[in-house]
Amino acid sequence: MRSFERLFDEIRKEIERRISKYLPKGEPREIYEPFSYIMAEGGKRIRPVLTVLACGAVGGDIEKAFNPAVAIEILHNFTLAHDDIMDRSPMRRNRLSVYKKWDEATAILCGDVMIGYAYALLPSLKDSPKAGEIFEEFNKALIEVCEGQAYDMRLGSAKEAKAEDYFLTIEKKTARLLEAAAAIGALAGNGSSERTEILRSYANRIGVAFQIQDDALDFFADETKLGKKIGKDLT
Ligand code: IPE
Ligand code: IPE
Ligand code: MG
Ligand code: MG
Repeated sequence: MRSFERLFDEIRKEIERRISKYLPKGEPREIYEPFSYIMAEGGKRIRPVLTVLACGAVGGDIEKAFNPAVAIEILHNFTLAHDDIMDRSPMRRNRLSVYKKWDEATAILCGDVMIGYAYALLPSLKDSPKAGEIFEEFNKALIEVCEGQAYDMRLGSAKEAKAEDYFLTIEKKTARLLEAAAAIGALAGNGSSERTEILRSYANRIGVAFQIQDDALDFFADETKLGKKIGKDLT
């Protein structure tokens, strides 16, 4: 393995370990079983790894980045549980979507509780001098992902769409969370605002490119390799 891949994989494994340690077990199992199910290994974990890498890139102590990184990954998975209901997508990561394995009410409520568990991982002021900014970044990402999903619904019912409508949608529904992942990592590492902004714009470009690729795959991919049914997101 090349050295970046090795580094990515090491961080990813540590993220997996922290996720499984953090997941609530027990009652009410109606929400905690699907929470564990959607958070199980299988996601690429690009957002939380980006958080940890951004923290390291500004010279920060990466230990400070792991909790917010897991918070970002939980937020991401919450959006997926609800997105699959919205897109009527029965499969995700080669398994049934939460709303298919359980039902819609379960997927909605599970997503709701996940947001609370995500916020609980953000640092308080005694843990980080940038706790306020981290909170604002996280909250902004949550709001804008929802706005992006609303624009996505609008695109889905429009007779025709302009390129600018598409880009507004993907900037919000996908790029914002990658931006937040990088910016929060930089802030957790106590990075300067200049470095935080550089990392944010880098993550924005990855996010836009990533969603364009995801949309192309939604037309052309092999469903088994993709792990989800195609033709669900843009139609
Ligand atoms: C899926 O994101 C949702 C999009 C923004 C396209 P990922 O492809 O990062 O999902 P997982 O977590 O790796 O399954
Ligand atoms: C996912 O968009 C974006 C969010 C969940 C916010 P898509 O609907 O295009 O993603 P997939 O292909 O279902 O993962
Ligand atoms: Mg979808
Ligand atoms: Mg969608």
